[in-house]
Amino acid sequence: MRAHALFLASCALLVASQAATSNVTTCTPAYSWSINSKNQTPCLVAAFLESVCQGAVQVNSIPVGTHYRGPAPTNATLCLCSTPVYSLISACGGCQDRNFISWTEWAANCPQGWKLSRFLQAIPDEVVVPSWAYLDVTKTDNTFDPIIANLSLANSESTTLSPPSTALSTSRNRMQVL
Ligand SMILES: *[C@@H]1O[C@H](CO)[C@@H](O)[C@H](O)[C@H]1NC(C)=O
Ligand SMILES: *[C@@H]1O[C@H](CO)[C@@H](O)[C@H](O)[C@H]1NC(C)=O
Ligand SMILES: *[C@@H]1O[C@H](CO)[C@@H](O)[C@H](O)[C@H]1NC(C)=O
Repeated sequence: MRAHALFLASCALLVASQAATSNVTTCTPAYSWSINSKNQTPCLVAAFLESVCQGAVQVNSIPVGTHYRGPAPTNATLCLCSTPVYSLISACGGCQDRNFISWTEWAANCPQGWKLSRFLQAIPDEVVVPSWAYLDVTKTDNTFDPIIANLSLANSESTTLSPPSTALSTSRNRMQVL
């Protein structure tokens, strides 16, 4: 019993010490759409996705006139070299009214085969990755496009609001049965 409890306690400590963090807890109104359904900023989501490849990562706020930088040759990981992390980090900059760099610049030190528009690793339970993070940035001049990202959210919402043809044919079928 006791050993079991100790084991659980050390697991809890391990998990706690590996938690990714961000001190960016809000976004400017222009980027309010980038906050996910769990009320998490793209900075926090990016921190969790980066930490999948390299242990606890902090994505903290950056000073005026600066931007987040992509990985150096020594710390490129599959996570950092994915467009979802790039898009989230770019939105994280936007959230603070900071600039962001192009995908080409961000991924300059990524091996060719690592530059993926998918996130292959398991998503940590703590976060929800917004759908816009998976948009293909190579279709928008190799740069994260906040307007398209915001629009894609509006589109996905209206899609869930109106699945009309199925609903209609179902009720029609039912009418016919009646
Ligand atoms: C985001 O899209 C909504 C419509 O869904 C619009 O009202 C809002 O102005 C847009 N925000 C930005 C910053 O473009
Ligand atoms: C976040 O942490 C960084 C240090 O990593 C600090 O420079 C910055 O002022 C902090 N920002 C906020 C909003 O607390
Ligand atoms: C990569 O390592 C450099 C130092 O070599 C550091 O300045 C930079 O913040 C790291 N980049 C990321 C994205 O972790």
